[in-house]
Amino acid sequence: MSQTCRIELDGKSHEFPLVEGTERERAIDISTLRDRTGYITLDDGYGNTGSCTSSITYIDGDKGILRYRGIPIEQLAEHGTFVETAWLVIWGRLPTADELQRFRTRLTTNEMLHESLRSHFEGFPPNAHPMAILSAMINAMSCYEPEMMEIEDERTLERAAARIISKVRTIAAASYKMSIGQPLMYPRPDFSYCKNFLHMMFSVPYNDYDPDPEINRALSLFLILHADHEQNCSTSTVRMVASSGANMFASCAAGVCALWGPLHGGANVAVVEMLEFIRQSGMSVADYVKRVKAKDSKLRLMGFGHRVYRNFDPRSKILKAAADKMLAKLNIQDPLLEIAGELEDVALNDPYFIERKLYPNVDFYSGIIMRAMGIPLNMFTVMFAMGRMPGWIANWKEIHDNPKARLQRPRQIYTGENIHDYVPLSQR
Ligand code: ACO
Repeated sequence: MSQTCRIELDGKSHEFPLVEGTERERAIDISTLRDRTGYITLDDGYGNTGSCTSSITYIDGDKGILRYRGIPIEQLAEHGTFVETAWLVIWGRLPTADELQRFRTRLTTNEMLHESLRSHFEGFPPNAHPMAILSAMINAMSCYEPEMMEIEDERTLERAAARIISKVRTIAAASYKMSIGQPLMYPRPDFSYCKNFLHMMFSVPYNDYDPDPEINRALSLFLILHADHEQNCSTSTVRMVASSGANMFASCAAGVCALWGPLHGGANVAVVEMLEFIRQSGMSVADYVKRVKAKDSKLRLMGFGHRVYRNFDPRSKILKAAADKMLAKLNIQDPLLEIAGELEDVALNDPYFIERKLYPNVDFYSGIIMRAMGIPLNMFTVMFAMGRMPGWIANWKEIHDNPKARLQRPRQIYTGENIHDYVPLSQR
């Protein structure tokens, strides 16, 4: 392969280096383009723009491949736990038994929130969206961690990562308890990461919730599958914020805000709302799909399509199998699972979806699993954020550890008014 590429502009030829990743993806390094030619590249939505090199996650969207640090997602889903996956994603390899134990201990010792943070929860109205609370509380948490604002060494980084991953779970459960007017439950140091979260969500002071192991495992699986996904909207946001030198808490809080939208993490809510709409309206699945395809329709089949996957999202296959298994084991009949299956069949055989390569994404079946766990709809995206925390931290770390990292600052092509004079108010 040639190591450079030639671009002709205004009758002049310019050579630019080619960059190849470890999986042979190729890019043209145009970082000197503007200085040499006066031109910039324009790529609305960044579909063709590599914003960085990264060694965390590999996706082949055409083949439906996803690997964290080289390990296929299917293997992590089958054998891994969320805590060891988090360590893998952040530190680049599977932890040894000692490292895993140390990280587990850190998660346990950091599970409590500073007692004065409890009063922050009381400042939110009862119907406040848990994503707003989560983002605000991650930022608020930083005020109680002054020694984590500048991270100088690996040990401090590990402590900061453990604090965020552990406390996010406590904040998430507390925001739910506040929203339903129940007392906040303290975490239990004798419980695993997932069981502890379920305890804080569903126990009440006079009744301990003891989750079925199937639910525990499903939660761990859900979090593993969401742990990272290369340069998606929220992760790019985290990297952008991190590039200014902002601390890990501020950067992750920004990630939560980006994740909230229905075209990104909020899609898991939108999928269940769509399935509920179909069920309650009595409309047939075929008619709903017709509506989506109608000319000028703004409706989308939520949980379908992906910027990178032009094939099955491997996470959706794993989640569908897990949903089938879990519902059968717990003897839960969810009519939405049936509607989802029908929608998938119709869409996968419809030329509109085939031509545009639209397949189910991670959000299509994740809502069914969360419903079966008893997670309320407005908490779905919060669960996604809990799972994504290791990925955001790993991406923050990549920027923080890179001595050559630059402030991220894209350019634009201005299309507004040309220069004209200010008109005094009396003459307008
Ligand atoms: N339903 C119907 N049509 C769709 C869908 C969909 N879900 N997704 C894309 N299309 C159509 C578009 O209308 C467009 O059609 P056109 O060429 O006739 O104009 C074509 O497919 C390409 O769509 P784009 O919007 O250009 O694709 P893009 O890569 O920008 O969008 C996205 C990706 C945002 C995920 C999109 O597929 C979508 O909106 N899906 C539904 C929301 C969703 O499930 N989001 C979760 C994604 S996974 C995640 O973030 C965790």
